[in-house]
Amino acid sequence: MAGARPNFVKIAPIVAELRRHAEEIRTTLVHTGQHYDSSMSEAFFRDLDIPPPDIALNVGSGSHAQQTAEIMQRFEPVLLELKPDYVLVVGDVNSTVACALTAAKLRIGVIHVEAGLRSFDREMPEEVNRVLTDHLSDLLFVTEESGRRNLLREGIAEERIHFVGNVMIDSLRRQLAVASRSPILEQCGLSPQRFGLVTLHRPSNVDEPEVFLGILSALRTVGERLPLLFPIHPRTQAHVIEWHLDEFFANSGLEVNPEAKACGLFRTVPLGYLDFLQLMQHARLVFTDSGGIQEETCVLGVPCLTLRHNTERPCTIEMGTNRLVGTDPKKIISAAEMVLANRKPEPRLPPLWDGGAATRIVETLFKRLTQRAQRI
Ligand code: UD1
Repeated sequence: MAGARPNFVKIAPIVAELRRHAEEIRTTLVHTGQHYDSSMSEAFFRDLDIPPPDIALNVGSGSHAQQTAEIMQRFEPVLLELKPDYVLVVGDVNSTVACALTAAKLRIGVIHVEAGLRSFDREMPEEVNRVLTDHLSDLLFVTEESGRRNLLREGIAEERIHFVGNVMIDSLRRQLAVASRSPILEQCGLSPQRFGLVTLHRPSNVDEPEVFLGILSALRTVGERLPLLFPIHPRTQAHVIEWHLDEFFANSGLEVNPEAKACGLFRTVPLGYLDFLQLMQHARLVFTDSGGIQEETCVLGVPCLTLRHNTERPCTIEMGTNRLVGTDPKKIISAAEMVLANRKPEPRLPPLWDGGAATRIVETLFKRLTQRAQRI
């Protein structure tokens, strides 16, 4: 099951690995349609070489309850017809919890990939999704040691937890060479190490005018020293329009490839996986509130300033590439100045972030299915 942009990056290596075992494990790929714009969905299927979904639920947007309920209603008949042994869900989005709950209610086993991450902040919709999904799951695959500790503390049985590494990094390693051929740097007039990259979409950052304005003003100030490229998520773009925030940007409108030669904060449409990876790889620093980008910059050795007060991915902080700077404009500016005054950190590989996570997941799953078949 996959539904939103970060899900596609995580599902790609798992689908590829499952297809290699197509004779032993029959799989059906379901797309809930939580993300539906071609830049948020199709582009990712194409860039990551994911086969088209077998089933599309086309749920679209809505409030949390509407979206979750709609996914459940449309997913239940699919499960009743297919009668799978397991439903595999990834990440922490509404599609994740909706599909896990639908399966659990039908007494179908749930597998959660990227289990155990905790920000300990229930204000984040994703934190609620993480906790619920983990407690509905039979098999829990964790990406970092903290995930294992969190699950054990919450009373989840040790034999259900498997530390396998990070499928997001499987995708990154698989696509890095292909991404290097992306012409995005030249198209935007950018030189390696001479620009910064920005992504923002957390409701706590972009749905509150005061917070959002503070962040934008800090980015505009940093942009006076270093061109910043900001591919804008639809949720964020909606607020730029609603609150008339054009003045913060050096270019007008949403250009596909803005010429960002001079300094300033430049906006662009959301980018595909390969273009974004190429930009991230060559950025001098990254500002983000995304979870996945904290992990990707860690492996690439790119300084990441996370515009949040907490993270569910503490190993990226321990590795020294990521720093939590919150949303205070002064702190954002001084953190950026510090990064620019220092040398680039070395790429760091947390344990098992070696490109083999999907293989370990499918091996474990295969063993489980074999044991189950023997019992019947
Ligand atoms: C969702 C996830 C978040 C993830 C993010 C990645 C939840 C609770 N949140 O947040 O964890 O990091 O995806 O992008 O599941 N929209 C479009 N086109 C699209 C999709 C969305 O225009 O293809 C707009 C709609 O107006 C929608 C809004 O963006 O209402 C928010 O989309 P939604 O899926 O609800 O949450 P995200 O903010 O994308």
